[in-house]
Amino acid sequence: MNSNARKFNSIYNYEIAKIEKQLGLLLKGKEPRYLYEPCSYILNGGGKRLRPFLVLISAKAVGGKFKDVYNAAIAVEILHNFTLAHDDIMDNSPKRRGRKTLHKKYDVNTAILAGDNLIALAYDCLLKDCKNNVKEIVSAFTHGVIEVCEGQSLDKDFELRQNVSITEYQRMIYKKTAALAEMCCSIGAQLCCASAKEIKAVSNYGKNLGMAFQLQDDLLDIVGVEDQIGKTIGSDLVEGKKTYLFLRALEKSNFQDRTELIKVIKQKGISRSEIHKYSKLYLKLGVIKDAEHEIMKYTKLALKNLSSLKKGEGKNLMIWLANALITRNK
Ligand code: IPE
Ligand code: IPE
Ligand code: MG
Ligand code: MG
Ligand code: MG
Repeated sequence: MNSNARKFNSIYNYEIAKIEKQLGLLLKGKEPRYLYEPCSYILNGGGKRLRPFLVLISAKAVGGKFKDVYNAAIAVEILHNFTLAHDDIMDNSPKRRGRKTLHKKYDVNTAILAGDNLIALAYDCLLKDCKNNVKEIVSAFTHGVIEVCEGQSLDKDFELRQNVSITEYQRMIYKKTAALAEMCCSIGAQLCCASAKEIKAVSNYGKNLGMAFQLQDDLLDIVGVEDQIGKTIGSDLVEGKKTYLFLRALEKSNFQDRTELIKVIKQKGISRSEIHKYSKLYLKLGVIKDAEHEIMKYTKLALKNLSSLKKGEGKNLMIWLANALITRNK
């Protein structure tokens, strides 16, 4: 790591530690315990805290200060945790961040309610940082929530659909993942009264970074290491998800391989014992490489959007983050 990367990495660690601390204090002693214990469980389970960091660095990139957007940063992390709680129910996932998922630790009803409450808590936090353009900021935040729900709806719908194009996949991941990253950057800038041009630049950065992020999430589901990623590997195949890797494999396969892939669709997923067979097929068809290529493509697009921003630490942090995420393993 060169000295700049080391510096940005330590800024990230320092700021994330502050976020962790605030998340730890947020619900302390709150009642009823049936509601707040599971909320605390998910909020305090670690995670990369990428979305709050996007809020912070976007604020800084437009000349603002971290301290002006801390509550908004907490708000997006709370919102993200709501999406995870409900996503894990929808995806039948037993493990997240190296621990039991919320609905496995408690039960489905508890996890649904905790998720609902997290949305409201997120708004509560966000409003603490809103001063001038409250309507625009709350509207951007709300729009982000709607996009995630629409994206998650498409994701579930695609599980059952026979033909999904890569264009449809891109629209789905934009909604379920990239729109939230876009929103984080947008509100970070808006809270610091950035110009329309600056808001656009950081939002587009967030959007493209979010696209790369979801592609990499799909990739790590195949090539990741369970202990590092904290989730069960191969789950997308088990659930019959139409990931980039799967759709690209369908495009590139010959008749025989295609028959194997079609089985995933017809049987609505595979058993855990078959994961290895399909990851070998992905490797053979070169779709791992294709996914890496796509991740690079979106990362470059993200970086390109920063060219109009003023030089400074905020912009440098954004550049560092985009590059650091390419090699993430969790
Ligand atoms: C997981 O998000 C959900 C996706 C949108 C892929 P993260 O990978 O950011 O999860 P944590 O917060 O770091 O655990
Ligand atoms: C992200 O997609 C879903 C959300 C919007 C939370 P995934 O379902 O792939 O996320 P992971 O892999 O479970 O974290
Ligand atoms: Mg999902
Ligand atoms: Mg999931
Ligand atoms: Mg995933």
